[in-house]
Amino acid sequence: MDNNESHDVEFEIINHLDNSYKRDVKAEIREGLTGRQKNINCKYFYDSRGSQLFEEICTLPEYYLTRLELSILQSRASDMVKFFDAGDLLELGSGSCKKIQILLDGLGGKRRGKSTYLPVDISESAVIDSSRQLTNLYPELKITAIVADITRQMDIITTDRPSALLFLGSTIGNFSASERLEFLKGVAKSMKPHDRLILAFDMVKDIDLLHAAYNDTKGVTAEFNKNALLVVNREADGDFDPANFEHIAFFNEGHCRIEMHLKALKPCLVKLKSLDVEISFDQGETIHTENSHKFTTLGIERLVGEAGLNIEQIYTDEDNWFSILELSAV
Ligand code: AVI
Repeated sequence: MDNNESHDVEFEIINHLDNSYKRDVKAEIREGLTGRQKNINCKYFYDSRGSQLFEEICTLPEYYLTRLELSILQSRASDMVKFFDAGDLLELGSGSCKKIQILLDGLGGKRRGKSTYLPVDISESAVIDSSRQLTNLYPELKITAIVADITRQMDIITTDRPSALLFLGSTIGNFSASERLEFLKGVAKSMKPHDRLILAFDMVKDIDLLHAAYNDTKGVTAEFNKNALLVVNREADGDFDPANFEHIAFFNEGHCRIEMHLKALKPCLVKLKSLDVEISFDQGETIHTENSHKFTTLGIERLVGEAGLNIEQIYTDEDNWFSILELSAV
């Protein structure tokens, strides 16, 4: 989502966000903001500012997800990468490089030297920053950074080499039920017999804990949520004023998910010039910006089974608040 710049780097960068993709972005923004329940797809949070805000969220005391995931990875990294000898480590929605560092340390220099790390993210700045850091830390590792939208472009992100596919952070929870099933079916189809998918899920837990994680006292999640309006302004030449909107996050029990919305504080009219669209908001009307589904063990077993994946191993914390699964294709 960031502008192309020339970078003096020691790794290959492949950018799949071409002009036709940009036209799709505009169409998706128009469709989302002109429907009955207005919405903005949560992938548009992640421009370079949004990616930085997300990294800040990951360090907040209330946001238990990253803390737990890091501690599971730290204690089980060498077991998690046991199956992997040499080949491609393809990380979907890679963001910062903290988590992959733990797994790369678990691999050791010999296996790293025979491997390529392929971070895939919609934020060009995020993949470039993390690839640059990793090049310095692990000079023996080959890196190919891929800028792409994993919700639309998985068919062009392929590898023939033996692979470890990583989809961490419980980002799968940001997909709808049908999106996550289709996504995992596609991944399962692309996997070779010895490949593994390392997939993370945030589990159902006490509602107060969930609520606090998405309503932090510092207001970083609110900034992150409102950043979506700035991204729409840039992509569609819009005049959203984030000050006219309030961050809302609550647990929807029926759907077992945290929903994030932006609520209009007063009636307002927003122009999206490049789409030739005017959108009016009543006071209290919301834009639905994100779903973050929470899972049960039974729900996960059903999902991965339907997708054609076999559970090889489940890694979790002592309270079963967060789970990382090692999966093979059936
Ligand atoms: C990236 N994703 C898993 C985060 C989540 O928890 O759903 C995004 C996020 N939204 C608000 N805080 C963090």
